[in-house]
Amino acid sequence: MHSDEELINLTAEYVKNLLSGEGSGHDWWHIQRVWNNAKSIAAHEQADIFIVELAALLHDIGDHKFHNGDETVGPRMAREWLEKHEVKNETIDLVCAIISELSFKGAGTTSAMSSLEGCIVQDADRLDAIGAIGIARTFAYGGHKGREMYNPNIPPVLHDSFEAYKNSAGPTLNHFYEKLLLLQDRMHTTTAKRIAAERHQYMEEFVNRFLAEWDGRL
Ligand code: ADP
Ligand code: NI
Repeated sequence: MHSDEELINLTAEYVKNLLSGEGSGHDWWHIQRVWNNAKSIAAHEQADIFIVELAALLHDIGDHKFHNGDETVGPRMAREWLEKHEVKNETIDLVCAIISELSFKGAGTTSAMSSLEGCIVQDADRLDAIGAIGIARTFAYGGHKGREMYNPNIPPVLHDSFEAYKNSAGPTLNHFYEKLLLLQDRMHTTTAKRIAAERHQYMEEFVNRFLAEWDGRL
């Protein structure tokens, strides 16, 4: 049996080995930022920090985007890892529930979190999807998928199911309307809402300038 601190460190090493060097914005550095965001948010909440840290570290190890849309891979890999280290079942269940609930599922869908710890990790993950880093990650992902940056003839779609959202392959700028600019209003904690407001404003300005330059207005 490991102490909580030892298990967190071992888990960080495990995830770092799995995701280092990944090129679509879902790499180890993303995990490290989400882990830090989650700790900062949790400092203002009455949450179980062990659960928050484990879920933040393990939340993207089997992302559906890289497993043919299969959402069960991530929670399954996390469970295997935690079972191997003899973590209490109750803890494993909570962490795996957070991982399976976390993902954005489309503009017209809701993704309710069943625990405060889950709200914190979802806020932490979403903060890394917006602002300067959010913009960079989004174009990195689009490039990774070989998509056009922008195409004025293809309008954004507000997906009303997770299936439709997962299958979308539109130009990268559409992702701002389909997800990124919607996140500010979907934050749970006061801390994340405050940070999101600033990042949102920055992203709006980016999109406006992008379109103005595209049209030769700037
Ligand atoms: P979640 O982290 O909530 O599961 P996603 O997996 O949809 O959310 O997206 C994570 C990040 O991957 C996004 O914030 C974005 O940077 C990038 N991404 C996902 N889908 C797209 C897309 N269609 N176009 C551009 N970037 C995307
Ligand atoms: Ni993530």
